[in-house]
Formats: sequence, C-alpha cells, structure tokens
Amino acid sequence: MSSGAEALWRERHHPSYAIHMPAPDDFAFWRERARALVQCDIPPDRVSWIEPGGTKSLFADSEFADVPVPDSSSAIVRASKAFLSLARQAALHSDPDRFALLYRLLWRLQDDTRLMEDKADFDVRRLDALGKAVRRDSHKMHAFVRFRLVEAGGQEGDEAGHREHYVAWFEPEHHILRANAGFFVRRFANMRWSILTPRGSLHWNGEVLCEGPAAQKSDAPDGDPTEDLWRRYYASIFNPARLKIGAMLKEMPKKYWKNMPETALIPELVAGAQKRESEMVATGALEFDPQPETLEAIEKAVSQCRKCPIGDLENHAVMGEGPRNADLMIVGEQPGDQEDLAGRPFVGPAGQLLDAALKVAGIDRAGVYVTNAVKHFKFVQRGKRRLHQSPTAKEIDTCRWWLEGERALVRPKLVLALGASAARSLLGKTVSINKVRGRAIALEDGSELWVTVHPSYLLRLDGDARAAQERDFAADLASVRARMEMV
Ligand code: URA
Repeated sequence: MSSGAEALWRERHHPSYAIHMPAPDDFAFWRERARALVQCDIPPDRVSWIEPGGTKSLFADSEFADVPVPDSSSAIVRASKAFLSLARQAALHSDPDRFALLYRLLWRLQDDTRLMEDKADFDVRRLDALGKAVRRDSHKMHAFVRFRLVEAGGQEGDEAGHREHYVAWFEPEHHILRANAGFFVRRFANMRWSILTPRGSLHWNGEVLCEGPAAQKSDAPDGDPTEDLWRRYYASIFNPARLKIGAMLKEMPKKYWKNMPETALIPELVAGAQKRESEMVATGALEFDPQPETLEAIEKAVSQCRKCPIGDLENHAVMGEGPRNADLMIVGEQPGDQEDLAGRPFVGPAGQLLDAALKVAGIDRAGVYVTNAVKHFKFVQRGKRRLHQSPTAKEIDTCRWWLEGERALVRPKLVLALGASAARSLLGKTVSINKVRGRAIALEDGSELWVTVHPSYLLRLDGDARAAQERDFAADLASVRARMEMV
C-alpha cells in the first residue's frame, strides 16, 4: 500500500472524533459523551474535546467521524464516586486539556479500578491539582466578592425599582461562576444583585437567577457609599491576634486586593492592631475566613464561631456525623439539650424517634451523614432546665455557611430536611412544609432535597393526630429510601 492509501485505510478503520462542548463548564455533557465513547471502545487518542471559543483542532470538522451511539447491550462504564466528584470540579478548570485528561482517566479506570488510589500516577496527580485549584478559586470567590450599591431602592409599588441593586466585580481564574451561583443566591437571597466577571455574569432579582454575557471591570461601579460599610465591617472583624502579613497575603492574594475597598485600611489596621488586641480578646472577634477544606476544619471553626449570639450561651458546637461520602444527608434544626451534652446530633428523644422511623423505612443511619442547620443549642434557662428556643431566620442564615461547607465536602446525592428551620437553611427562604414535602426539589449542586416534618413535632402530638402525622412521616422516609435506589 502507498503511504497515502495507508493513511486513508487507517482513517477509515480508526476514525477520530471531535466533541464540541456546548459550554466550558458542562460536566453533564462531557459525562454523557464520555460514557458513550467508552462504550463504543474509542480510545482517548482518537477524541478531540473542543471548547466553545477554544483552540480549533488542526483538522476540519469534516475529517472527524460522527460520534457513535452505543447499543443497549453495551458494557456498563465504571467510574468511582471519588473520580466523579473530583472530575466534576476539575471540569471547571481553565486548562484547555482538562476534558481530554478526564476522558483518559475514565478510559483507564475501566481496566484499573484502583487507579485513583495511585497518587504517583501523573494523570491522577494532575486531576487532583486541577480540582484543588478550582476549589481554591471558589473559596476566593465566596470570600472576596464585594457588592456595591448602584441603584437605591424605590418606594414599595414603585415600578422601577423596589429593591436596591448591588453589583460586584470578580475575576475568577476558572469557570466557576455558574457552579457558585447557588451559594450567592442563598447567602444574598433577599438582595437584588449582579456579579460581573470576564467569563460571564449572574443577575438575581430576589426571585429569578439569569445569566448574562462576559463583562469588563469598567461595567462595575468603582466606589459608593457601601464601601464605607465594608470598611467598617472589615475593621470590626479584623482580628489583630491573627495578624500575620505572610498568611494574609496568601489568603488575599494581591490580585484580589485591588477590588476590595477595605484593603485600603490594612496599613492602618496593622498599626492599630496591638492596641485593639486586648479589646478584641475580651469581646470575641468575628472570623472572616474562606470556607474550610475539611470536615475537621469546619468542626474546629464551628466550635469557635461567634457569628451569632447562640455561640455565646453555655453550650458546645455539635458537628454533623456520618460517612464523609454518604449518599444521604439528614439535616435537623439544632442540637437539643442531650445532643449538646453528648456532642452528637440526634441522640435525644427526637433522635430516638428518627432512628426508629429510619429503621422502618429501611435506611441505615450508620450510612447517613446527620447534621443540623444550626450548630449550637439555643435555650433559655428555667431553674435547672434548659428550654429549647427556635433559632431566628437570621441565625439560621448565618449558620448556613457551615452546612454549606459540610454539603460541599460530603456531596450527598439526597438531602432530607427535617422541619422548617432545616428547609430554610437549604432553600434560603422560609417555606410551608406541607407545600413542599413528598417531592424532590433540585438543589443547585445537582443534589435533590426532600423535606418533611421534624420528629420533635411528632413528639408534641398525641392520639389520632400523632398517628396520622407518623404515617405521613413514614411515607416521606419511604420515598427518600426509594429515591436512594435510583440516584
Ligand atoms: N433536634 C434537632 O433538630 N437536631 C438534633 O440534633 C436533635 C434534636
């Protein structure tokens, strides 16, 4: 065969495939295409993953074959939970080769199911590094996005405005904008805001989230009265006891400083730090850290948390417990008296009722991550007794930071909220349990929320009312159990 004919023969028998990604962060699309390619036995060196606006392939589209469709008898594609969870993060990296790396790893996992444990493997190390960079970028975004007022709120009923409009400018290194939208919607649920970035923009009007095009720094406001607010806020939370310039620079790289009004205060704060230290030790300063990266770090931070007054009561923080890769997370309201003493969630009367109901539903509590919307016990002292008090919406919203940290690390497929406080924490707004129970609610991270009543509510009922509510509670748990089989 001549070399030209040989090339033609090879091309016919070993065609190449171009996959055009619809968006640079579309992990679901990559996953679906990658699965089909593995099932059709297409090795990684014959696949080009092309991003929108990314570098064009050396070849014209006509030189690529159509992507094959696997038939129904195709083998199951193996992908461990550890791989998928890291791959989902790494897919947001700005490295143009990330989708090829992911596919190469998926391909290799079919023969080597323990590949992800090989920390010396080049591809595994690269995946870890991409995931870490993306997580770090997200932490920065959570910590350093600063909203500035661009439009004052109008009178109620005023068509033009009713709400003040805040705008923030941020420069993410990776494609993290959409993946972090839920964080900002929940945290600033009642504000009207826009986040502008060079990679796209997000706009929230208090009800609906929209995506917009990429923006430029000049589109964002550059100074306004709220900056003073930030400055005062930062001055109040600035903790001189922790003042280490090196560490500060690490946490707040200079490239973020330029967008932060409060950084103008840093020299002044450094100078005044010594003087203020004793005052702050006495009052207990607020921390303003990026989200911790491990459950242990969250536990430690929660035990020192004084972002709301509940932490100042005589109590202990109660961290969630359970497998750190649990498929199901159950979220209660807050620890009670017994949980506070034991340092574990749901061990008192409500916990016993919950355990019994889980057993009937066929859900093994040992496989579930159990936690609370609020991590400290809120109570009033009556003689020797500590009487439970419900947390306020503000306290729930403040403590949501920790629950979000737990969710980001455990990444449950299903979340079950027990009662209104847990539902508020997960949905960012108060809902009526009866309106939302018994059906799946999609959460922004791809997991599914189910809502039911709190077991303490059942304990307060008796007679027929209790029997009826227990039946509904059991039915809700049975639905969750059934869903666990499917997701
Ligand atoms: N109630 C809750 O909501 N959580 C607990 O941990 C115990 C009781």
